[in-house]
Order: sequence, then structure tokens, then C-alpha cells
Amino acid sequence: FGPVSYNERARFWEVFEYDDVLRVASEHETFSSDGSKFAAHPEEFTKGQSILTTDPPRHRQLRSLVSQAFTPRAIASIAPRIAAITHNLLDQVAEQGSMDIIADLSYPLPVIVISELLGVPSEDRARFKRWSDDIVFSEYDDLSSGNLEEYNERVRITVRRTLDELYDYFRVVLAERRLQPRQDLVSELLAAQIEGQSLSEAEILAFCTLLLIAGNITTTNLIGNALLCFDEQPEVMDQLAKSPELLPQAIEEVLRYRSPALLVGRYATREVELHGQTIPTGQMVIGWISSANFDPCAFPQPEVFDITRTPNRHLAFGHGIHFCLGAPLARLEAKIALGILLERFQQIRRKRDQPVETIHSAFILGPKHCPV
Ligand code: HEM
Repeated sequence: FGPVSYNERARFWEVFEYDDVLRVASEHETFSSDGSKFAAHPEEFTKGQSILTTDPPRHRQLRSLVSQAFTPRAIASIAPRIAAITHNLLDQVAEQGSMDIIADLSYPLPVIVISELLGVPSEDRARFKRWSDDIVFSEYDDLSSGNLEEYNERVRITVRRTLDELYDYFRVVLAERRLQPRQDLVSELLAAQIEGQSLSEAEILAFCTLLLIAGNITTTNLIGNALLCFDEQPEVMDQLAKSPELLPQAIEEVLRYRSPALLVGRYATREVELHGQTIPTGQMVIGWISSANFDPCAFPQPEVFDITRTPNRHLAFGHGIHFCLGAPLARLEAKIALGILLERFQQIRRKRDQPVETIHSAFILGPKHCPV
């Protein structure tokens, strides 16, 4: 690959270097997040348009409504609850002497937290997981085989069916909260107004869906990836068990070294020249976060996992106006969960007889299971 290349098969452009990925992520006038503007079938996008897939000015308005709920200060108030859920999950496996970090901790924790924030029963989490998996993992699973048109059609059908189910689920929740508002995000979204106008039902549904999915899989993988990174260097695991104050910086290095979200996707709003290549208007551009975070121009010795790395301006949460809304929550959940894990089980080691199997996805990185 060069720094910029056209992927003939998938029909999108790919950029790999740090400065270019930063540009693609943050120059929203040149690189739009709204695929409906360039789609052959824009009606496909009426479902599922959320802050992630809108440009200013609508993006600014939508984000201002929800950003209050996700500031580090607002999120700090749920720290005791995150700790209580973590202890509770660990209590259930503490006697066994072994556990699967994914199934027993890093999957249930974020889904319980986001369910409680949204105000939906966390007992429905098996369904949330199936929906999240269907949307995130079905997409690229078998891209390498078969023809692209058939593949795209299959993806469209799966995503449409999954969104139908998810939206039906949230429609019931919205109806209940309209009758009886509670202290939760769904009730806040129903009451919210932008310049005297309420959000449309489609916008609220898209946002709830985005939070449920974005707030789920990525944080699960951050915790799983952290365990893998720490386990590869047992002295790091010991150091963190003794000095938990090093955890936040170690988590930043995990975010760089094994970024849970691998890419950002955009559409060129005009012809763009990049490293001698011309990206035509309307074409999709993928900025590879996972590659940018290993660019030696931005990170000396990028292949070294170094929990003391400063500065560490990784792009794991994106950059610019779409910078991850849930970053403070993800960081807090990871810090609390890993802190409690190391405090309670100081001699934690991955089971060597079971090879690490990574999940099968082009945009998410993490282990399927992590027995320890
Ligand atoms: C946006 C990664 C956790 C909600 C993003 C973006 C990235 C990202 C890369 C930018 C996408 C783009 O520019 O197109 C991650 C990672 C996480 C994580 C690595 C965990 C380690 C969360 C959580 C939530 C969340 C816990 C919510 C509870 C969102 C939302 C956006 C977003 C709503 C869209 C923001 C906007 O478009 O303005 N995330 N995320 N994320 N994330 Fe996260």
C-alpha cells in the first residue's frame, strides 16, 4: 500500500498515515459523515441517521442536546454504581478460580451501565448483544467470498431487519416514557427541544440505537484488549496491581496499541488531492485508526507497548466534531473494572493453553474470549 490507495474490490479509498487520518476524521467540510448525500438510494438512510452520520448544522444541534449527559463530571457521578456492578459480576465467579474476562465481566458491565443510563431493563441484554452483533459483525464477515453486489444486498437486509427489531423495542419504551417520564436519558430526549422543536421519533430511535451499540461493543473490547496487553508483559500487570494510579495512562496506551474501533468512514464532498492521488467527489474514504496509531512519525517506536508513553495523542476515539461522545464513560468503566480486577485478583494470568481468538470484524478489534 501507499499512504493513500483505492480499494478496487470494496470501492472505497483508504488512508493510513496519522496526519491524513486526522484530516479525514476532523475536516468535516471536505469529508462528510452523511452517506445519504451521495447514496444511490438515499431512502435507505432514513432509518439510522444519528449524530454519527450527520454533518453540521444538524450535528451541532443534536450533539449539544446529549453532550451534557456525557461530560466527565456527569459521568463521574455513576462511578460508585460502575464499581458495584463490577464487584457483583466478580462475586459470581470469584470462587471458581478462573473466569472469562469477556463473558463474565467486559461484556455485561458496559451493557448494564448503558441500559441503566437509557432506562431500559438490563435483563434484556441477551437481545441487545444479538442486535449489536448483527449490525457490527455481519457486515464484513464474508466480504472476501462472493460478489460485492450480493454481499451489499445481504448486509442491507440484515441491518434493515435488525434496526426494525431494535426500533420496535425502543418504540415501546418511548411510549411508556411519554406517559410516565423517569430520570433517564430516554425521558430527557423526549423532553429535549432545539429552537423550540422536539426531536423527531426517528432521531430519538437512532440515538438510542447508536448508544446501545456504540456504548457496548467498543468498551467490552477495550477491557479485553487491556487484559491481553497487560498479560503480554507480566511486569506491567504486577506494576499496575501495586500502583493503580498508573492505570489511566496504561489504558491510553491500550487504546493506541489495540484500538477497539479500527476506522472512521467519510465521503469526499469535493475532489481531494492526497499524496498525488485524486479522490473524486462522493467517494467513500476510510481512515484507518489502527494504522495511524502505529505511525512512527506520531509515535516513536510504535510497536513497543509503553504505559509511560507521553504524549500519547492516539486517535482511538476519533478527532474533531465527531470525537467519541462516550470517551469519558469508556475510560471510567475501564479504569474501575481493571482497577477492581487487579485489586481483587493480583495474580491474574491468561490461560496459555487456549489461543486468543479475535472477533471477526473489519471495524472492531478485540478477543472473542479471554479465559484467565
Ligand atoms: C463516536 C470509538 C465508547 C458513543 C466514536 C468515534 C470513535 C469511537 C472512533 C468517532 C467516529 C467518527 O468519527 O466517525 C469508541 C471507542 C470506545 C467508545 C474506542 C470504547 C473504548 C463509546 C461509548 C459510547 C459511545 C461508551 C456511549 C455510551 C459514541 C457516539 C459517537 C461516538 C454517540 C458519535 C459522536 C458524534 O458523531 O458526534 N466513538 N467509542 N462510544 N461514540 Fe464512541
